[in-house]
Amino acid sequence: MEWRMNRVVVGLCPYFSMDNVWTRPTRPLTVLAPLAGFTDSIFRQICRSYGADIVVSEMASVAALVHNPGKALERLKFVEPERPYIVQLFGAKPDQFGAAARLITDKIKPDGLDINYGCPAPKIIKEGAGAALGADLPRARQVAQAVLGNTDLPVSIKLRAQNKEISAQQLVAYLADLPLAAVTVHGRSVSGGFSGPTDPAAIAACRPYVRGVLIANGGIVDLTTAKMMLQISLADGIMIGRGALSRPWIFQEIKKQQTINLSWAELTELIRHHAQLIVAYKGEAGLIEFRKFLAWYVKGWPQAKYLREQLMQIKTLSQLEDIITSVSV
Ligand SMILES: Cc1cc2nc3c(=O)[nH]c(=O)nc-3n(C[C@H](O)[C@H](O)[C@H](O)COP(=O)(O)O)c2cc1C
Repeated sequence: MEWRMNRVVVGLCPYFSMDNVWTRPTRPLTVLAPLAGFTDSIFRQICRSYGADIVVSEMASVAALVHNPGKALERLKFVEPERPYIVQLFGAKPDQFGAAARLITDKIKPDGLDINYGCPAPKIIKEGAGAALGADLPRARQVAQAVLGNTDLPVSIKLRAQNKEISAQQLVAYLADLPLAAVTVHGRSVSGGFSGPTDPAAIAACRPYVRGVLIANGGIVDLTTAKMMLQISLADGIMIGRGALSRPWIFQEIKKQQTINLSWAELTELIRHHAQLIVAYKGEAGLIEFRKFLAWYVKGWPQAKYLREQLMQIKTLSQLEDIITSVSV
């Protein structure tokens, strides 16, 4: 495929050289990945309490923000301890990205905006968003410009190592003259979905084109995988998704550079705390959606299968308590 680095000169946004959430000197920066269905305000608070430097919202539809802003904005609300908090946007149309960027900047006031160029879900691709946007270089650029032109917040992007015939390096080089504060590369191809090995070298290849910080993502589940990823990718930080669902203390582990294995008693304490936060925000009805978190928490523990089966039935805090205290691990 023929491509060239686009060198159109764009006036630098005034914030680019200023301190922002991405320019803090902490190394490595640890970021909670956007995970649709999981990274709600409560889970973001939990990860911040374990030392995540930055947390990202579930991806928000720019079309929904334009057409039904009340409901879409409600989902993006956050509490102060979550800061630094980034809102991630997905969509297809540059004008909708611009309008959504302005709306979120004014109404939500997060610490940054992120653009999704990598989601492989068929329903997202069908609407020209996610990976479909990342594969269309001119439109990808229009979207980045629309967001940059409608906010004074730092703007970051998230993309895959390979998207059809376009590599991460190609997309990042194509946008290299834009004042993007951070670039996160998930080291798998779009066709690779969410399993299989990651390619940290493909992340490193983006380095010369990144003016802000480079964040590596994919397959980081503990200190060892974090170190390996950082060493090869040459990134300034790492973004962690599923590894944080089963072990949200992974951020502390990386900060302390020390493996942390929670005892069952400590894990049940965390589970209780998470469940109590959910009930405080949503009532016991919220425990139905908490079940998916429970499945991640017990992953890898002895009796995990039995526990999962039991936990998938819970409706009340007392049922949860009965199950987690019934096992001796
Ligand atoms: C359930 C789930 C939901 C996800 N939702 C999003 C999303 O909203 N936006 C996004 O950019 N990536 C999303 N991803 C991708 C993750 O952010 C991350 O790039 C991917 O899971 C690889 O990182 P990991 O191996 O640490 O999980 C999602 C992944 C999963 C498994």
